[in-house]
Amino acid sequence: MADGNSETKSSNQMWGGRFASGPDAIMEEINASIGFDKKLYAQDIRGSIAHATMLAHQGIISADDKDKIVHGLNTILSEIESGAFEFSRRLEDIHMNIEARLATLIGPAAGRLHTARSRNDQVALDFRLWVKEELQRTEKALTALIAAFLDRAEEHADTVMPGFTHLQTAQPVTFGHHCMAYVEMFGRDRSRVRHAIEHMDESPIGAAALAGTGFPIDRHMTAKALGFAGPTRNSIDTVSDRDFALEFLSMASITATHLSRLAEEIVIWSTPQFGFIRLSDAFSTGSSIMPQKKNPDAAELVRAKTGRINGSLIALLTVMKGLPLAYSKDMQEDKEQVFDSAESLELAIAAMTGMVRDMTIRSDRMKAAAGSGYSTATDLADWLVREAGLPFRDAHHVTGRAVALAEQNGCDLADLSLADLQSIHADITEKVFDVLTVEASVASRTSFGGTAPNEVRKQIAWWRARN
Ligand code: ARG
Repeated sequence: MADGNSETKSSNQMWGGRFASGPDAIMEEINASIGFDKKLYAQDIRGSIAHATMLAHQGIISADDKDKIVHGLNTILSEIESGAFEFSRRLEDIHMNIEARLATLIGPAAGRLHTARSRNDQVALDFRLWVKEELQRTEKALTALIAAFLDRAEEHADTVMPGFTHLQTAQPVTFGHHCMAYVEMFGRDRSRVRHAIEHMDESPIGAAALAGTGFPIDRHMTAKALGFAGPTRNSIDTVSDRDFALEFLSMASITATHLSRLAEEIVIWSTPQFGFIRLSDAFSTGSSIMPQKKNPDAAELVRAKTGRINGSLIALLTVMKGLPLAYSKDMQEDKEQVFDSAESLELAIAAMTGMVRDMTIRSDRMKAAAGSGYSTATDLADWLVREAGLPFRDAHHVTGRAVALAEQNGCDLADLSLADLQSIHADITEKVFDVLTVEASVASRTSFGGTAPNEVRKQIAWWRARN
């Protein structure tokens, strides 16, 4: 089989019966999907073997023909995997490339394989199988990322850092607690992956073109052979549904958005100004002109991949939104979006897992920053409520005055003298200094899900039992 361009314009050997001549070159170019759907070869062959086996079991084709078909398909599988198979654009897509080769290999028996099926249910099957396997890979990758965060969280359950809102210093937290926030995010992503696998766990094959078939097929048998929970229940929906691809892209977009937020934090944290982390040489690059630089390129690229993935979701939603039931050729545009996103997402998760495992945490820098910016102001206000019986709004006001005074003196809250503090509110005693340190602040936040080291350790244990 030669490339499509060099072939004569004869009508298509798979569907050309009513055609006098072959397609225009432009038609061939816009129509062909083999350039990308060859990725589905293994799923296509697996589906065809299950279909042929079922056809023979039901007495629709002979056992002899089935054996020839299965043998021929296995030969094609090794031809593709060894690189010997020649894909032809004239044969449009992976389904017809394989079937045409089967005809060359085994003769007329090949023509019986397409009994009681159509490319519409065939492509729905192949693509579903591919996406399902990709989701299983994503689940494993997310588990590895979560494991990396759990290790870092455990190591740094006591490491204090500033917690931010509006990227302004808010209250001290621990780095372990911050890591566990990402564990929650990627844990939700992983449960979205699991739900997507459950939703798509139905076999399309046997829906045929759109209406089912008059042949006595057994769709439960093919579903079981292909590892699905059962067959889909409506043949029209089956060939017009791409929810599994949309769910993959939705999950991928949300996960990529989480990865991008993490990437952004890594970019900020690794600046000399923040200096909270040092990226390993393995995940950064130098500058060709400025010798002092170490750039967080991997994090930046993870941040940027989110654009492609989110774009793919919008692209496929847009492809699907105007389509009447059932199959339309528009749906051929589903694959490249998913393939590109899958590759980007896999790479982004792997790069992030490496960065999280490799980065050096600069605890001294985090601690110094944790105490600056009056991060324990809320602790002073809470102390006034607890120990001096002030209503919180009054305590807030008193604390605001203490912050203003510290700002005037150019010092931290903990550096104000007792006399200074008492000049603002007479009921303040020496004991207030116990809550003005960052360690005391962090240790006091023992509410469920709070930043106190013991609370964080409980959450780590909860996740360890589930990862
Ligand atoms: N290459 C096609 C696709 O990806 C396969 C299905 C073609 N079906 C048809 N009726 N032309 O959607």
